Amino acid sequence: MSGINYSEKIPNNVNLSEDKALQRALEHWQPNYLAWWNEMGPARSSHLQVYLRTAVSVDPQGWAHFDFVRMPEYRWGIFLNPREENRRIHFGEHLGEPAWQEVPGEHRANLRRIIVTQGDTEPASVEQQRHLGLTCPSLYDLRNLFQVNVEEGRHLWAMVYLLHKYFGRDGREEAEALLERRSGDQNNPRILQAFNEKTPDWLSFFMFTYFTDRDGKFQLAALSESGFDPLARTCKFMLTEEAHHMFVGESGVSRIIQRTCEVMNQLKTDEPDKLRAAGVIDLPTIQKYLNFHFSVTIDLFGADESSNAATYYSAGLKGRFEESKRNDDHRLHGLTYKVLTAQEGRLVEKEVPMLNALNEVLRDDFIKDSIAGIGRWNKVIEKAGLPHRLQAPHKAFNRRIGSLAGVRVSPDGRVVSEAEWAQRVGEWLPTDEDRAFVASLMGRVIEPGKFANWIAPPVMGINRQPINFEYVRFN
Ligand SMILES: [Fe+2]
Ligand SMILES: [Fe+2]
Repeated sequence: MSGINYSEKIPNNVNLSEDKALQRALEHWQPNYLAWWNEMGPARSSHLQVYLRTAVSVDPQGWAHFDFVRMPEYRWGIFLNPREENRRIHFGEHLGEPAWQEVPGEHRANLRRIIVTQGDTEPASVEQQRHLGLTCPSLYDLRNLFQVNVEEGRHLWAMVYLLHKYFGRDGREEAEALLERRSGDQNNPRILQAFNEKTPDWLSFFMFTYFTDRDGKFQLAALSESGFDPLARTCKFMLTEEAHHMFVGESGVSRIIQRTCEVMNQLKTDEPDKLRAAGVIDLPTIQKYLNFHFSVTIDLFGADESSNAATYYSAGLKGRFEESKRNDDHRLHGLTYKVLTAQEGRLVEKEVPMLNALNEVLRDDFIKDSIAGIGRWNKVIEKAGLPHRLQAPHKAFNRRIGSLAGVRVSPDGRVVSEAEWAQRVGEWLPTDEDRAFVASLMGRVIEPGKFANWIAPPVMGINRQPINFEYVRFN
């Protein structure tokens, strides 16, 4: 596998210069992408110099280079993991056949839909996070926000490359449409609902990168199993970048919790009013944000019973998380899986064909992974000597998609009446008042080494730089 050629207009490791038509098409898309970035990317950031990592190879040892970059000059490129000789499809009805290097005609529409849906989430999150830089709690955090943003931009490039290279004219049209939809827009919204929600403050941002970027991890992992080899190789490299996004989320929430616990101990109180008056975010509010982001994110996995999910799997387009580590026949006929539904005011499990429940399988894998991090947050509280604990809400809580949509379920998993829901929802999900309080904390801290009052400093800096390093330069 060759390194990445940065002398070209579009850095890439796919020998773009050997395919002139493709290169021209992408070079034509590039200014439209930059126009989108300037309009919808990080607000008032174009003059900043940011200490960013840029991919310089796909070698797991040392793929990244760190340096100061003006963001509009970031080198967004196209990088695929190396091709594995003789790779075979390892699940579904084509099991054992050679992996596809071109799009099979019969699966073209489904593959395009999968790629467009994934691609749409990437610019959407940049749009959602557009204003956060103006209220950053530190230069360190500002840099991390921008790192996530440029990489989501690169993930869009990754999907657009596939659309341009393998889907001809309709692929090019889809690539344009990816720059036209807007997060939260009434008339032309992003495809998936979680990507139309607002990310108005940094607590939301950290919850989003913890939960919603983790959805990204699981979707990419399932697609990196794909029988369509270019998609698999693209997603493998994207996963490398995704890990940092989830780190930003996990450590961000962890630092907020740490700071809150410090103040709880100083003031010897757990009363939200007193803690808020001291300028930190009380744990019940953090729990409500957690409930919101968890529930909105698990909806992204789709309906619990889905014939599309069965088709994608059987056709070899989208596997399960860690497909190759599973000990079954990788075809799944005759197997069943339990999904939840509400019957006469109770949640009951129902066995359905596993092929139809693959969204639920992936959602359950996601939930397991999410809960592990919540446990690490609880360790911070435990270390501070405090008895409180955070929890993932029940998976039926606040659902909008699948058979649980429209059923009112409390975070502890009781089906509740509409009246009880209306009365108690303010204990379970952030209220306008909670959001206004969190918003009131959002100032802008840009002195190197200084942090907003509501968040603890990180344990260490980026790329072994000190915490008080000037991660962003303003001139
Ligand atoms: Fe992404
Ligand atoms: Fe991400």
